[in-house]
Amino acid sequence: MRETLTLTRPDDWHVHLRQGAMLGLAAAHTAARFGRAAVMPNLSPPVETVARALDYRAEIMAALPAGAEFNPMMSLYLTDHTAPDEVAAAARCAHIIAYKLYPAGTTTHSEAGVTRIAPVMPALEAMAGHGVVLQVHAEVRDPQVDVFDREAVFIEQVLEPLHRELPELKIVVEHVTTEQGVDFVRHSGDHVAATVTAHHLLFNRNQMFRGGLRPHAYCLPVAKRERHRVALVEAATSGDRSFFLGTDSAPHRRRDKESACGCAGIYSAHAAVELYAEIFESAGALDRLEGFAGHYGADFYGLERNRGRLTLEKKARRVAPAYALGGGDEVVPLRAGETLTWSVLPPGH
Ligand code: DOR
Ligand code: ZN
Repeated sequence: MRETLTLTRPDDWHVHLRQGAMLGLAAAHTAARFGRAAVMPNLSPPVETVARALDYRAEIMAALPAGAEFNPMMSLYLTDHTAPDEVAAAARCAHIIAYKLYPAGTTTHSEAGVTRIAPVMPALEAMAGHGVVLQVHAEVRDPQVDVFDREAVFIEQVLEPLHRELPELKIVVEHVTTEQGVDFVRHSGDHVAATVTAHHLLFNRNQMFRGGLRPHAYCLPVAKRERHRVALVEAATSGDRSFFLGTDSAPHRRRDKESACGCAGIYSAHAAVELYAEIFESAGALDRLEGFAGHYGADFYGLERNRGRLTLEKKARRVAPAYALGGGDEVVPLRAGETLTWSVLPPGH
């Protein structure tokens, strides 16, 4: 008998769609699975203003396959100079849902990010006042801090004090990777949540060193020890409404990953919901996938849940070894050349 699973159409609350050929690929994969997505603003130059976000949104809409029903929800890039007036304009625009805080120097295109909390306090107060969500890349940039400790240190030194000082500000700890992150979110009430990626649920840091150095398993924040992965699976599958789906799917060209200084980022948009289904199934929690993937994120952002549905079938599918971008470039996806246990059925199947 066919085994299927029908869900409220999910949303991806953290995705990198990029531009150009990469955008065509990522937008098609994302729109085939999700009703909406929170689109990250770390382009070069970054998406700092409402006007720029609307231009970028138009680029995304133009790149979608014909007939796709997908609503890109834009994040703006917070800088030391973000004006409270711009925050107010963002709050008035239905296509913008958040500001993203990148501590300067922590990840891809974060150079223009935030150096300290003090200069952004007026913007954060404006966000709290207007109900605009703050999405945080929760890592310190201090090179003296061990790379595996950067999230825990950021939570203790930056997020806990910020949440105490501005409890009405809605904060999402993006791509949470540690027990400490999970504990902070669990114990911080309704205004603090986290997105959890499929790759941080699937593997621990050993994956990067399995038989050699594996650049395609490298992302930021970097995967941690097994006990942290277990804490993430427990949080995501527990039914706690503070944890919801955000893939952090972040494509890079193969040559930029397989390089002496390889870029951080894992491409998972081609199999996102399928991978979460696999994870929830192994945890014996398939019945909790719908809340995590389609309800809690929308509720946190104060948006209506999607009306549409998405059906998965328990049917093996082989992942392509790579996706061509043209000009000889390609993107190597998560699980390249391997087999997935769940498949997404096309609409109207
Ligand atoms: O692995 C990552 N890739 N982490 C980030 O924070 C940024 C992202 C990207 O844009 O490549
Ligand atoms: Zn990201």
